[in-house]
Amino acid sequence: MSRKVSTRKRPERDEHMIKEQLKIEEGVFDNRTMMAIWRMFNHNIVSRMDHIISKGKEADVYLADSGSSIAGKYSVLKIFRMETSSFDKRVEYMFGDPRFEKIRKNNLREIIETWCKKEFGNLKIAQMAEVHAPIPYYFKDNVLAMEFIGTESTPSPILKNIEVSDPERVLNSIVEDIRKLYKSELVHGDISEYNILMNGDNPYLIDFGQAVVLSHPNAERFLERDVSNITSYFRKRYGINKDAEKLLLEIRK
Ligand SMILES: Nc1ncnc2c1ncn2[C@@H]1O[C@H](COP(=O)(O)OP(=O)(O)O)[C@@H](O)[C@H]1O
Ligand SMILES: [Mg+2]
Repeated sequence: MSRKVSTRKRPERDEHMIKEQLKIEEGVFDNRTMMAIWRMFNHNIVSRMDHIISKGKEADVYLADSGSSIAGKYSVLKIFRMETSSFDKRVEYMFGDPRFEKIRKNNLREIIETWCKKEFGNLKIAQMAEVHAPIPYYFKDNVLAMEFIGTESTPSPILKNIEVSDPERVLNSIVEDIRKLYKSELVHGDISEYNILMNGDNPYLIDFGQAVVLSHPNAERFLERDVSNITSYFRKRYGINKDAEKLLLEIRK
């Protein structure tokens, strides 16, 4: 499943075209974000920015044409915004995770860039664990490039916006992926019908920024919340009664 990303430089002749395109985006991105996107062009991760897929509270998600280092036609760029909102929420998931304890609490840029790096690292763990999740390609500063989950150029719908034909199988797949993550010592921490994309019949977990390693003091509590969120969603919407406690025992076995 692993896909190698080459860091070979892009030929000079393409540079003009790309710079022109970035000019169009000027005013939308700050300078540093532009430079990070520019780096993605240079390393052949993306060849063109398409359109915005989602404008979220913390990040904007863009569809991009993949560059020659990437096997698929499209990639996704998740661009984290340099805003103070949800700052406190992030801190809770960062301190206590030994990977990111050293960052300074009062430096917004450092927090946001670390958050981006954290999502990349978490997606790498998911990829190694063979969980249904986007393959991470690259990150730089506040920009994360990853596999596009969708058909043609249409992103897969979130679980909430679709009626699944075999809900029991979908729930089992989600729980199995939570179990695989746990075996790899990671807890997603924000599992819900909003952070799962239905790629055909297969649920894909997304939005890994807040995922924590098991040594985080709240890891077990986050796991319980994830399992409880997803079982209650399938209970309410599809009448499937799965005992969250039993599932937790299986996940922790
Ligand atoms: N890899 C991806 N492929 C396709 N669509 C994606 C991908 N990642 C995110 N999206 C879309 O962008 C939305 C927001 O992404 P998400 O990672 O949940 O960010 P946040 O919730 O922090 O804004 C998702 O609901 C989904 O529609
Ligand atoms: Mg989300």
